[in-house]
Amino acid sequence: MYKTTELQQIIDSEFQKLYFPKNPAELYQPIEYILSIGGKRIRPLFTVLAANLFSEDVQNAINPAIGLEIFHNFTLLHDDIMDKADIRRNKPTVHKKWNENVAILSGDAMMIYSYEFFMNLPTEIQISIFKTFNKTAIEVCEGQQFDMNFENKMEVSEQEYIKMIELKTSVLIAACFKIGAICGGANEKDAENMYEFGKNLGLAFQLRDDYLDCFGNTAEFGKQIGGDIVANKKTYLLIKALNISDSQTKAKIIAEINKKDFDRTEKVNTILEIYQQLNIPQITEKKIEEYYNLAFSYFDKISVPTERKTPIIEFVNLLKNRKS
Ligand code: IPE
Ligand code: IPE
Ligand code: MG
Ligand code: MG
Ligand code: MG
Repeated sequence: MYKTTELQQIIDSEFQKLYFPKNPAELYQPIEYILSIGGKRIRPLFTVLAANLFSEDVQNAINPAIGLEIFHNFTLLHDDIMDKADIRRNKPTVHKKWNENVAILSGDAMMIYSYEFFMNLPTEIQISIFKTFNKTAIEVCEGQQFDMNFENKMEVSEQEYIKMIELKTSVLIAACFKIGAICGGANEKDAENMYEFGKNLGLAFQLRDDYLDCFGNTAEFGKQIGGDIVANKKTYLLIKALNISDSQTKAKIIAEINKKDFDRTEKVNTILEIYQQLNIPQITEKKIEEYYNLAFSYFDKISVPTERKTPIIEFVNLLKNRKS
């Protein structure tokens, strides 16, 4: 079995080896830019960790792992245009450093590139992996559209929110675990339980992302704090605040949401103060814990010796209280 740090090194060296053409520079430089900044690279790590859970040989999982991370980075380029985000991974976003058209087209190219990494898999697993990947990619688009729709919709239920984040975020994390498991030779039942494990972990991951967007530290998180508040994103924090506040506080929140002309800092601070008063940080942390427990109920079902599970358990637990 590999150590997690060894798998991370393998992934990083694969990214260093990637080569993109030089021309046109506006198409390829942004791809090199976003991929070289890196980020946490949890998706490729999950893919190879999942493969290593079932097999000593992780070779089959490496290309899909890279493909999944390139796909993720493609979604970030487009997401940052949609969310009007200026900073990611502590650097200017692609559409700010270049422009929106560049970010759209480089993103498109990245999506196509991601498919290249699914080409040379053993035939007996290729179809099921492709199917999982394609289904996931479409679902991410669905989730992103719901996320955009919800910006202009006041009444979003907790259930609708969970469905939206399942689509925009969780299914990709779930797919990483499932695809890695298939590459490692897992049976269908184990592969499905890995998917469910990843899905619930993904929900916790996005809840933490929403939390950090409000209560994180810019330098650690690498994104501008308060972006979700400014964009009227229907995050778990906002939905919960609307649900549990008295009529006066609720009216205050709604007034902030409806403001057309506002000072950014003022709006963010007003909402953050309300969140604090309502104990929203603690409530969100509790919800994260719930999804972690649910995730592990699926992981427990995986039919491999317990000691093989340790690297995944340890890494995943580190993410629960992540700051970046
Ligand atoms: C950001 O994902 C988008 C979400 C689904 C919240 P990550 O938090 O994994 O971002 P990087 O890749 O580490 O930068
Ligand atoms: C990200 O959701 C989902 C996808 C990129 C598909 P967010 O919009 O919350 O992600 P960040 O906060 O910009 O990374
Ligand atoms: Mg978004
Ligand atoms: Mg965003
Ligand atoms: Mg976010």
